[in-house]
Amino acid sequence: MLYGKKKVILILIFILFFLCGWVGNISVFAETSIQTNSSEPPKLTDEKSIEKVINEMTLEEKAKMAVGRGFPGTFGNPKADIAGAVGVTHGIERLGIPPLFFADGPAGLRISPFREGDPHTYYATAFPIETSLASTWNKNLVTKVGKAIGNEVKEYGLDILLAPALNLHRNPLGGRNFEYFSEDPLLTGKMAVSYINGVQSNDVGATIKHFVANNQETNRTDIDTIVSQRALRELYLKGFEIAIKEANPWAVMSAYNKVNSTHASENKELLTTVLRDDWDFKGFVMTDWFAGTDPIAQMIAGNDLIMPGDSITLTEFMNALKNSTIDEKILDRDHITEIMNAVKNGTLDESILDRNIRKILNILVKTPSFKRYQHSDNPNLQKNAEISRQAGSEGMVLLKNIHKTLPLDENAKIGLFGNTQIETIRGGTGSGYVNAPYTISIADGLKNRGFTLNNDLLQSYKSYITTLRHQEEYKIKPSILGSEFGLEIPTIPEKPLKAKEINKTVKETDVGVVVIGRISGEFEDRKNEKGDFLLTDREQDMITNVTNEYHASGKKVIVILNIGGPIEVASWRDKPDAILLTWQPGQEAGFAVADVISGLVNPSGKLPTTFPMAYNDVPSAKNFPGTPEENPEKVVYEEDIFMGYRYFTTFDIEPAYEFGYGLSYTTFHFPKVKVKKSKDEVKVSVTVENSGDISGKEVVQVYLSAPDNKLKKPAIELKAFGKTKQLKPKERDTLKFQLDLKDLASFDEERSAWVVEKGSYQIKVGASSENIYETVIFEVEEDMVVEKVNDILKPKMEINKLSK
Ligand code: BGC
Repeated sequence: MLYGKKKVILILIFILFFLCGWVGNISVFAETSIQTNSSEPPKLTDEKSIEKVINEMTLEEKAKMAVGRGFPGTFGNPKADIAGAVGVTHGIERLGIPPLFFADGPAGLRISPFREGDPHTYYATAFPIETSLASTWNKNLVTKVGKAIGNEVKEYGLDILLAPALNLHRNPLGGRNFEYFSEDPLLTGKMAVSYINGVQSNDVGATIKHFVANNQETNRTDIDTIVSQRALRELYLKGFEIAIKEANPWAVMSAYNKVNSTHASENKELLTTVLRDDWDFKGFVMTDWFAGTDPIAQMIAGNDLIMPGDSITLTEFMNALKNSTIDEKILDRDHITEIMNAVKNGTLDESILDRNIRKILNILVKTPSFKRYQHSDNPNLQKNAEISRQAGSEGMVLLKNIHKTLPLDENAKIGLFGNTQIETIRGGTGSGYVNAPYTISIADGLKNRGFTLNNDLLQSYKSYITTLRHQEEYKIKPSILGSEFGLEIPTIPEKPLKAKEINKTVKETDVGVVVIGRISGEFEDRKNEKGDFLLTDREQDMITNVTNEYHASGKKVIVILNIGGPIEVASWRDKPDAILLTWQPGQEAGFAVADVISGLVNPSGKLPTTFPMAYNDVPSAKNFPGTPEENPEKVVYEEDIFMGYRYFTTFDIEPAYEFGYGLSYTTFHFPKVKVKKSKDEVKVSVTVENSGDISGKEVVQVYLSAPDNKLKKPAIELKAFGKTKQLKPKERDTLKFQLDLKDLASFDEERSAWVVEKGSYQIKVGASSENIYETVIFEVEEDMVVEKVNDILKPKMEINKLSK
């Protein structure tokens, strides 16, 4: 605002000068202005002016620059400049430093759609959740999504997006897994690179979060994550390393949890030694909201900005919200005083504060706010909805499709079962929520595509849901954190189905479609219980009874999974003829589902995460969410490097659906695989042919099997992947990959180095982690140290590691 006013005043002065004829001689004007400004402080004009500006700052100004300004724009406060922006920094007008605006999140921009006294709406597009984006394995498409999100960030007047999130799916019950890409660090890292490139092509920033090992929500702010250096380097840090080295994100958000007994946000080894020294990160680091306990330790560790910047704890804040006692005063942060005092009494060296500010200003000079970008408040929501729909359908994974059940004939009459056909889930809750203008339900999407839905059944679902939603217990309320964090939608039990109703529907329709839904979100992990990881009895009955009846009439049934993370499938998957995993595909959900069901889009998604037969098959099941059980304080990653498919393939445990799995309406084969090993690289070239009769795309996955020597290795590890263009029947595409020595290396804790051990290596090229078409062997004659890194982040206790 001030900036706007100041600009107007400057323009007025200029007009006055012009009217008085003084501008006739430019040099006179320039001289006059130099003279008048000589006593003025230097202004931030570009990178080169940063040092002068820092020298000019008072201690209070410095402390303010390093601390956010609370939540002026969020928690239902519609008065703020950008309602719903969850982070704002202090501007220092006299030095030409504007405030910066930050907002979540991974599936699209999260701001509030409404502002007081303003009839204009500020809706953002809900894109598919990150897990769905990763299921596309399509880097270009994810860049397109990132570009669209970044455009909304810019056009709504924000500077930095608090996404993408890069934590791994260590355990399927992680409450925020939907906000994360995958269980695999390479897929995560590469998807993040594509996403960041898209966002930052708009000249706004992306923030990678939560650095690092924030793999659960239970006691997330204090849980002590005990993890080996090798598992950190090979798995949990790896995606971040790729993103930083290949995409230069403007910011990193440190995580809530402890990493080997020190809070991530207070961990100098993590934020300085790994991030800056080992990886040469150029941007700035901010804390997660209210993370850690000691702002001075955070500053020293390398956290440049402390967020959100109010003096109370999250619990106090939540209580204040509940009691409606929140006012502007409690948002005044005294971390500023704390920092100033620490500098005065010598516990914080002023040079550290200067260093942190330098990092922030280096980014700040690139932002739209600094460049006074005139945002439109009108991003092209229609165009972005199209992108969301395209990504939504490409992220869908066809898990089962016997006897070509799908795609459905366009004249098919459908009996549509399951509450989620009406209350379709576009994404998760919490900071990953998006205030989108609408969600297209699966029922509406299928109808819109021209399918005939059995009307009696549809109406009975509609009236069941409406009736229950009017009951107190099932009323939809805004989230306790304010409506911009989403709604609290109590789960309605699955509508009971009478035999007569099913029978009548079967008679009147050609095919049955059953929709199962699940939602999760920040603050809570999921549970291995009915209604969450397991189906409820009613859901089981619905699948059993509907399939029995349809099959008895020689008709087929499809199950649609509108979920954010794996659920148990082994007990029921034999019953239906087809299963389509749609994930939570964004606001265009119903349209995207119909695109795949109708065959307009041939599914090409592949699982970025393993679907186990049973929860207890997952190696982290016995160490999640930590001990003591009633109130976990620490979680020990005993499965070590054998996480996700690395475990299932090494220990020969059969998953329900493996990592990388996904069917198509057509078939592919890989007629030519060439592998060429030279001294310091391996080149792989794979030709894919569409061997079926429908156009489609295929994902090529390149795995490595490294020899067990001193270091024991997982059976396979993903090292490269790519997706073909849309291939017509008989058409071919050749994809080329290049692995360097680091891609062959494992992390040796003793040497603190990435090491390629001598022995036989196998390149395995396939269409999933278990469907390998071709294996090529090559030898490495001697051990090689590829890269030495700092010996840090050692666990302070012995880990009883799983080994082969
Ligand atoms: C979440 C972050 C988010 C921040 C701001 C925190 O609770 O962990 O991911 O960016 O809030 O909404």
